[in-house]
Amino acid sequence: MTSELIHRSQTTQIQEPIVDSPRHFKFLGKGRYPIGYMFRERIPFILIGIAIVTLFFSTFPQSSRSHVSVWDSVVQPESDLLTRRVLYEEGSGSGSSIGYGRTLANVDGKVPLGLERKSLRVLVTGGAGFVGSHLVDRLIGRGDSVIVVDNLFTGRKENVVHHFGNPRFELIRHDVVEPILLEVDQIYHLACPASPVHYKFNPVKTIKTNVVGTLNMLGLAKRVGARFLLTSTSEVYGDPLQHPQVETYWGNVNPIGVRSCYDEGKRTAETLTMDYHRGLGIEVRIARIFNTYGPRMCIDDGRVVSNFVAQALRKEPLTVYGDGKQTRSFQYVSDLVEGLMRLMEGDHVGPFNLGNPGEFTMLELAQVVQETIDPNAKIEFRPNTEDDPHKRKPDISKAKELLSWEPTVSLRKGLPLMVSDFKNRIFGDQRDGDRSILTKA
Ligand SMILES: NC(=O)c1ccc[n+]([C@@H]2O[C@H](COP(=O)([O-])OP(=O)(O)OC[C@H]3O[C@@H](n4cnc5c(N)ncnc54)[C@H](O)[C@@H]3O)[C@@H](O)[C@H]2O)c1
Repeated sequence: MTSELIHRSQTTQIQEPIVDSPRHFKFLGKGRYPIGYMFRERIPFILIGIAIVTLFFSTFPQSSRSHVSVWDSVVQPESDLLTRRVLYEEGSGSGSSIGYGRTLANVDGKVPLGLERKSLRVLVTGGAGFVGSHLVDRLIGRGDSVIVVDNLFTGRKENVVHHFGNPRFELIRHDVVEPILLEVDQIYHLACPASPVHYKFNPVKTIKTNVVGTLNMLGLAKRVGARFLLTSTSEVYGDPLQHPQVETYWGNVNPIGVRSCYDEGKRTAETLTMDYHRGLGIEVRIARIFNTYGPRMCIDDGRVVSNFVAQALRKEPLTVYGDGKQTRSFQYVSDLVEGLMRLMEGDHVGPFNLGNPGEFTMLELAQVVQETIDPNAKIEFRPNTEDDPHKRKPDISKAKELLSWEPTVSLRKGLPLMVSDFKNRIFGDQRDGDRSILTKA
């Protein structure tokens, strides 16, 4: 091997470059091409190359060439959504420009002239959960096409099963912590466990969902020109020092407590949302949701209303934490869904408090549950949980004025609707179904 190399190098040394052949001009080194040769031999090839490239670009316009490398299958091929599920070639990078999605809508979300938008294509992350599934019902009901993205951590297929087979509905089992690209006009971003039992189960995952998941959805909104709505929470006010809470109040939150993965996660999600809006011109909306109850809540999720209802139905004592004098406001789910849709369709970014200002102590709530389900239900006191806020009551003046929205369903009217759903699920009687539950309110 060595001797062969030596032999070759010796051969090269004794060979003289044949300078009269154009193929050997490279031996002359950089900058030593004769000008006459360049014009005579190379320029025609360059011109032909430019002509071919120009022809290619005018024949295949930008929109039909995908920058995306890996395509996943359409979840329901028969769907008319023109929806494609793809994996990013550039990770979750939020500033880059993947062209897909601009065949119908450009970066500003505007439809090119000559194309009519039949109905909205709406993405609901967390759409198989409690609030999300009711929102999906309303969106489908008004004629939109809906894609639900949900990892089914706390959500259930049963919550949306009545839409299976509808060509305007798709369910994608997907974790929002991973990027996804979908062609949509609006994004309702709900994906996040909402009850303390669930969000404390894996706090790191909770904060990742709030931060990375929200970044991914904002990146998607930017790419496809969609309007983005974040479902934030009254928890951003922490244990409030101001009562009732207005949107301008900055809150009193423990950054290192056991609830911080949720509280601070949502606060960061709000920050990201506003930064995408201010810095990148994304259309955003922020809702701060206060305690909401209704059918399809997880039965054993530890939230006070579901706790009391399930306990009363099972003939167990109602567990009251602390002295029971801490207050909460309870909003029926149909009121919340109405507020979210008004916010999305309206002209105001927010944040907006969406909640029912009617204030109840835990003991008063227990009393209403007793009246509705079982007057003999006993109350049992337990030590309070860490960082449990003492008071929570929304000031909804802003939503009233700018969204013309306020809750209409009282606790005494809404609770029986939830009770009949819980009864069906706890005792296995699904005869009534639950499709009509929301509309009864
Ligand atoms: N219900 C309330 O009282 C209330 C109050 C304040 C804020 N919110 C907010 O409203 C939203 C919906 O709450 P909910 O009460 O319907 O809760 P929920 O737990 O019933 O629904 C959340 C949904 O998100 C899904 N999800 C969770 N992590 C996910 C992930 N990483 N990727 C994909 N999907 C994921 C769950 O499977 C579930 O379907 C949440 O963002 C919550 O923070 C709710």
